[in-house]
Amino acid sequence: MKVIKSIPEVREAVKCAKKEGKTIALVPTMGYLHEGHISLVRIAGERGNFVVVSIFVNPLQFGPSEDLKEYPRDLNRDIMLLEREGVDLVFAPDVEEMYPEEQLATVEVKGLTEVMCGAYRPGHFTGVATVVMKLFNIVQPDIAVFGQKDAQQAAVIKKMVKDLNLPVEIIVGPVVREEDGLAMSSRNVYLNSEEREAALVLYRALKKGENLLDGGVRSAKTVIESIEKEFEKEPLARLQYVYICHPETLKEIINIEKGAMIAVAAFIGKTRLIDNILWEG
Ligand code: PAJ
Repeated sequence: MKVIKSIPEVREAVKCAKKEGKTIALVPTMGYLHEGHISLVRIAGERGNFVVVSIFVNPLQFGPSEDLKEYPRDLNRDIMLLEREGVDLVFAPDVEEMYPEEQLATVEVKGLTEVMCGAYRPGHFTGVATVVMKLFNIVQPDIAVFGQKDAQQAAVIKKMVKDLNLPVEIIVGPVVREEDGLAMSSRNVYLNSEEREAALVLYRALKKGENLLDGGVRSAKTVIESIEKEFEKEPLARLQYVYICHPETLKEIINIEKGAMIAVAAFIGKTRLIDNILWEG
């Protein structure tokens, strides 16, 4: 497995792989890898035969009061985990390599970024779309794999690819959870033991909503109220939003149908967590 920090070297390595007729599959990450990331690496391995994982904590997607400095990092451990998965190339550039000067060209996906997390994290999805566009241009993958955990991010990337005619197939892998239901996230390390317990409210509340739907309820209002109630019972949690929408257009749904997504964001202490479920009906 090659670990490369420079853009020209990545281009060269990918060019060689393409010459050999390989299908390039990219998994973009910010590192501090967990089973959620690894599940995407495995999907990439099934769909392509030259797997590239990028590890880059992208400053452009963090707000001024967000956790860029504290964001957990452990490149050596990440490399070890990826080596074990048979990854072909790790691209782990420094900030200077990706942003040698002020980035003036950005990618904005209007309409999908004003709702949900976008409403509370201005500029975040422009930062994400811009870095993913740069990674696509550097690695030139045939396939790129993202996680449903970050549902709005997946929707934004899909729309960017569609609207800008990028020759990349986007695959979205399911949310990977801890045994007790907590969605895996690099940010879970911020939680102390009390908060870790309290964090279960996200999945518990989503499941409550799902149960209502399974029982025949179709009113989004009823489902949202039941989720809000569940959060009220958890003193360490502060709900930011509950949103029920179409998973690709992110258009709000009033009368729920099969395929709808219920998404939540909440602070547990100082840690902001997100989760969602797709209701398959
Ligand atoms: P990061 O948070 O490291 O996540 C990398 C990828 O792993 C994303 O596609 C995310 O949705 C997926 N992922 C995270 N937790 C998951 C889980 N529990 N189950 C399934 N997939 C999961 O998302 C980013 O990095 C960045 O915004 C990035 C796309 C790399 C751009 O900087």
